[in-house]
Amino acid sequence: MFVAEYEGGQWINPRIEPYAPIEISPALSAIHYGQSLFEGMKAHKHPDGSAYMFRPLDNLHRLNLSAERLCMPTLPKEIFIEGLQTLINLDKEWIPTHAGSALYVRPFMFATDDCIGVRPSDNYKFMVICCPANPFYSKALRVVAEEHYVRAVEGGVGFAKAAGNYGASMLPTKLAHDRGYDQIIWLDGREQKYLEESGTMNLFFVAGGKLYTPKLDGTILDGYTRASIIQLAKDKNIEVVEGRISIDELIRWAQSGTLTEGFGTGTAATVAHFSSFSYKGTEYQLLPIDQCEVSTMLAKDLNDIKSFKAEDKHGWMWKI
Ligand SMILES: Cc1ncc(COP(=O)(O)O)c(C=O)c1O
Repeated sequence: MFVAEYEGGQWINPRIEPYAPIEISPALSAIHYGQSLFEGMKAHKHPDGSAYMFRPLDNLHRLNLSAERLCMPTLPKEIFIEGLQTLINLDKEWIPTHAGSALYVRPFMFATDDCIGVRPSDNYKFMVICCPANPFYSKALRVVAEEHYVRAVEGGVGFAKAAGNYGASMLPTKLAHDRGYDQIIWLDGREQKYLEESGTMNLFFVAGGKLYTPKLDGTILDGYTRASIIQLAKDKNIEVVEGRISIDELIRWAQSGTLTEGFGTGTAATVAHFSSFSYKGTEYQLLPIDQCEVSTMLAKDLNDIKSFKAEDKHGWMWKI
């Protein structure tokens, strides 16, 4: 694992250590007051044996946006890049090569002051750990629009990869699982009317041949799989609409037969097809995976770039 500390106003002591438990104080500020954030990225192995990462500087950008929102120090590019390079080169042989697999890379930062008291910590730790990962979902998902709980509101921390966002999502997600659904579609926190995102994925729907996705408004994560899918769709001359999509509109599209495909995008899942979505007890069917032409094509385009089968026209793959 890669480790660095923030002390006295600067990042110090970047180093590799064997993966092992770390000692923390019971008064560790991150545990009590939630100054804790993370990122998720993947490393892929080129047929020539070298390792590549997908859009890592975008992850650094997002990590630093999260850090600023949580009143934590930002991380200099050199420490992030040096950490990734050293760690991934060391762990290169752990990168699995079967279809859809990768080495999952988890950078994270947390407050380390040994202090009971609500105030920004003076000390922090940044670490990176890795593990081999298989494809995330093996089947199309039944998703349900959440009617009671909300994930984020304007002015909140929805755009940040704050650890607390994930803690807060667990109860609603468990309740949805208990009702037989695979994942939640979050609606906006103000009116519970507009689509936001789903689990650890951004949302996409295909209606009337256009690709619709909720716009970035500070309440959802600016996902890099989302950005890549939007670009790949534009490359294929598919019209992309980033906007406010209400659940009522989605239902109207489903009822009129305009709505064909729905899917989520994220580092873990890449593209996860939805078999249906539900709202207020009614389930609306989407096309089965084998008929999902748009999402299957875009998923293939993205996976072909990540597995070095297609030219990386946009410069997303970054050689370690
Ligand atoms: C809440 C949330 N939304 C969306 C995403 C997708 O983002 P990305 O494509 O950068 O992995 C993630 C995963 O990181 C997430 O945790």
